[in-house]
Amino acid sequence: MDIRFQVGGPSKWKADAVISFVFEGEDAEQACSALMQNALWLGIAPAWRDFRGKNGEMTMFYGPKAMEISRVLGVGLGKAAALDMTAFRYAVGRAMRLCRDYDLAGVGLDCASLARVAEKMGQPLAVLVREAVAASFMALYRYERWLSEKSRNDDPLWLALLCEGEFAENDVRDAARMAEAEASGICLARDLANDPANVLTPCAFADKARAVAAKYGMNFRVLGPTELEAEGMAAYMAVARGSAEEPRMAVIEYTPRGTEGQAPVVLVGKGLCFDSGGISLKPAKGMEEMKGDMSGAAAVLGTMEALGQLGLAKAPSSPVVGIMACAENMPDGRATRPGDIVVAKNGRSIEIVNTDAEGRLVLADALAWAQENYAPARLVDIATLTGACAVALGLDAAGLFCTDEALAVRLHEAGTALGERNWRLPLWTATSLKTLKSPCADLVNAGQREGGAIHAAVFLQQFVKEGQVWAHIDMAAADNADNPVNAKGATGFGVRTLLSAVWDDREEKLQ
Ligand code: BES
Ligand code: MN
Ligand code: ZN
Repeated sequence: MDIRFQVGGPSKWKADAVISFVFEGEDAEQACSALMQNALWLGIAPAWRDFRGKNGEMTMFYGPKAMEISRVLGVGLGKAAALDMTAFRYAVGRAMRLCRDYDLAGVGLDCASLARVAEKMGQPLAVLVREAVAASFMALYRYERWLSEKSRNDDPLWLALLCEGEFAENDVRDAARMAEAEASGICLARDLANDPANVLTPCAFADKARAVAAKYGMNFRVLGPTELEAEGMAAYMAVARGSAEEPRMAVIEYTPRGTEGQAPVVLVGKGLCFDSGGISLKPAKGMEEMKGDMSGAAAVLGTMEALGQLGLAKAPSSPVVGIMACAENMPDGRATRPGDIVVAKNGRSIEIVNTDAEGRLVLADALAWAQENYAPARLVDIATLTGACAVALGLDAAGLFCTDEALAVRLHEAGTALGERNWRLPLWTATSLKTLKSPCADLVNAGQREGGAIHAAVFLQQFVKEGQVWAHIDMAAADNADNPVNAKGATGFGVRTLLSAVWDDREEKLQ
């Protein structure tokens, strides 16, 4: 789907259907005064009789077929005071899906109506444009790779922002471009997480990462078993040992011109292409969901894709490194046993008491490696790390752990604004270290059940140097969803949040 702009005001607008937003109780004149300049019939369209503008309500208004605008999709947003961005995204998502169901080739988004929504929400128009465009792509995403009978309806060919003025303001164009880039990162991440583990192996993931890097002229390297071993990453290797699939740690370095030599922002993603639990085998029920245990790494690759697509239009002012720590956790004669002890890259010894607490083992070495190789300005990891995090925060939020107040605030605010909610959880180091004590090694890899997300985070912290600005996002709950902007399955959660971790403070203010 192409994003287009139609400028010059309502008389120039043309689309198979125009999406217009309506608050509860409004009539055509109140909600669509600009649009009516080119669709006079809308004022007397009979369907207004039963349309209340409630949140979730949607009605197609029809005018004479010969008109340039002969369909208007009225999208109810309910009471203005109760409207939040999630409800807005869902409304856009439902509308775009309906347009696809009706096989409409060109859809218009009434920016006059969008500007009213912006005003009521106390947001700039550009913010609403960004959310509307992102929501459109997110809602239309489908994963049909393996269906022999695909959906009959194609996506609309274009979505046009119908601008009131003589031209589209730069910030509106930038917002649309930003959303488009974010959406391609999200859709890539969703594809990766929806792909089954027999197809998306660690090697296959690394190949995808290589392709993204090549497409945008970014630097790429990859570490296999030999290199991981040679680098002293025994905790990482302990996870991969039981699998017939070799581990791959893929690394993409993006160094925008002029940022050479600066400390990079380093993103690290957990990439368990499948997590059976290993010898500490998981129960059968729901185990298939563990094909998505690479959602952290997928979010990192999605972020690199979005950055590549944005290119010089919005290049970060420091280099960005994406590390995707891929492996498969399987039971086998060669697999790690409960009780095995390994020494991680930073010299800490770990007694592996539960082979199902594998994500932290992989991340421990990846984090240590990242700090040794890059001296990051900021280090952010993202992982489907603990079921305990889902128990704590519910299915619609990630846990956020952070050693730096400013970064924590930024990630929290970004996630909240962008539909990737996160909530700060504490790094209660001393308490967690008590439950992570081993009689025979520096640490055990799994502590008490109660507070499990915190213990996992504190475990990771043992591999982060004192003073390093670091955030850890536990997205175990948020990797799957089924809602108007998310076809049942992977979410691509984290792409938008990680992108916002990449810009420096100056750029953030410009946004
Ligand atoms: N990948 C899982 C966590 C997970 C669970 C992600 C459910 C998404 C949905 C992780 O590797 C794991 O197994 N964690 C264990 C840790 C425990 C053994 C300390 C858990 O959460 O039960
Ligand atoms: Mn596990
Ligand atoms: Zn896992």
